[in-house]
Amino acid sequence: MNSINTYIKEHKQRFLDELLELLKIPSVSADKAFEKEVLLTADFVMESLKKAGCDKVESCETPGYPIIYGEKIIDKNLPTVLVYGHYDVQPADPIELWHSPPFEPVIKTTDIHPEGAIFARGACDDKGQMYMHVKALEYMTNTGNLPCNVKFMIEGEEEVGSESLSWFVPRNVEKLQNDVIIISDTGMIANDIPSITTGLRGLSYVEVEVTGPNRDLHSGLYGGAVANPINILTKMIASLHDENNHITIPGFYDNVEELSKEERAEMAKAPFNLEAYKDAIKIGDVYGEESYSTNERNSIRPTLDVNGIWGGYTGEGAKTVIASKAYAKISMRLVPNQDWKEITDLFVKHFESIAPKAVSVKVTPHHGGQGYVTPIDNIAYQAASKAYETTFGKTPIPQRSGGSIPIVALFEEYLKSKTILMGFGLNSDAIHSPNEHFGVWNYLKGIETIPYFYKYFTDLN
Ligand code: BES
Ligand code: MN
Ligand code: MN
Repeated sequence: MNSINTYIKEHKQRFLDELLELLKIPSVSADKAFEKEVLLTADFVMESLKKAGCDKVESCETPGYPIIYGEKIIDKNLPTVLVYGHYDVQPADPIELWHSPPFEPVIKTTDIHPEGAIFARGACDDKGQMYMHVKALEYMTNTGNLPCNVKFMIEGEEEVGSESLSWFVPRNVEKLQNDVIIISDTGMIANDIPSITTGLRGLSYVEVEVTGPNRDLHSGLYGGAVANPINILTKMIASLHDENNHITIPGFYDNVEELSKEERAEMAKAPFNLEAYKDAIKIGDVYGEESYSTNERNSIRPTLDVNGIWGGYTGEGAKTVIASKAYAKISMRLVPNQDWKEITDLFVKHFESIAPKAVSVKVTPHHGGQGYVTPIDNIAYQAASKAYETTFGKTPIPQRSGGSIPIVALFEEYLKSKTILMGFGLNSDAIHSPNEHFGVWNYLKGIETIPYFYKYFTDLN
């Protein structure tokens, strides 16, 4: 299969050009204003799967955006790999912080990507990483190197909670039947330190509203005598962590899996440079739960973070006012065994219980999902590990990630199969942030590595 390198060399420019075309379509699922573009992106994905050699490609209707399904079944007795990815992207704002327009992709070099990186919203999350699989399939079908069956399922609502996919999966268990699921929608440690993601955190996302007086008040006439919802909300939020940065919601840690000393020691072996970590995001120091390391805090420990907070007067100059309402959006990242619905209930109960009588609170749960852990003692992981070894020349390090892809736990529940998270992005690629990018080297490395996974997985079966 050495031909993969030759194939990439020959088609590199076209691989890049096609991805740039895909990145030009602003498929922002969170914003209805982009509905047409999201649908156009679905069409693009559908066409690309046809061209890459799928025998059957369909756009599956859902209550929301379509799910693009494609397959190439070469022999019912061979194993089947299911590829999942998403064609929707996060909103681009704040747009003014982008150095080039988010939907006009450009390739520029950076310190970390001397061979160039593609700057665009979705470059890494997830269009670039999803498209690696399409190009890997193209290579395998064009050169007679597809060793097993393959199915693709690419959705358009991952960034808003995968509601339609949660609807689709239980209704299509037969169609989606597979032996392993592979996803490239995570990252790795560094280009010279390959790693495979073996865990994802769960998520509970809620919005809170605190109401004081029935109208905005003059802060002189009423100040000091009535509860200010913003003051109260910030106080309530502050009380959700204690002095050790432990979350104070009763029952929150009840089901948290505690890793053994040995497991923590194993984790601590992963290369990590605290100074470089701080310098990359320009912070004076790290901050988090007492007696856990940075890598533990952002992967095996649950969190509670305010993602947005607003209320009162935020315009120019000063306006003396006590607002009637204050709001916050709060995410809780969860670890395996914490049930996101249970945690949401605990949050609601606790948040209501700590509100003083002077205000009323309303908590609205948004989406959520369970965490996930991939075992490493199975052939799917071993095949992935061998694939990385082949193309990186190094054994990849298994590493749990702090991010969430809630649908993965659902795959296991309904399709009864394991997911291998073969991510090729880097933390510095700024996913969800202005100037998101994806290394050209990483894009091509992904295309190179994926066919080896198919080969080794089929061999080991
Ligand atoms: N691809 C990310 C998740 C991710 C990135 C996991 C890097 C691990 C490493 C995905 O698109 C995402 O953004 N997920 C959301 C959750 C979703 C329900 C909106 C997240 O993690 O915030
Ligand atoms: Mn993603
Ligand atoms: Mn994302």
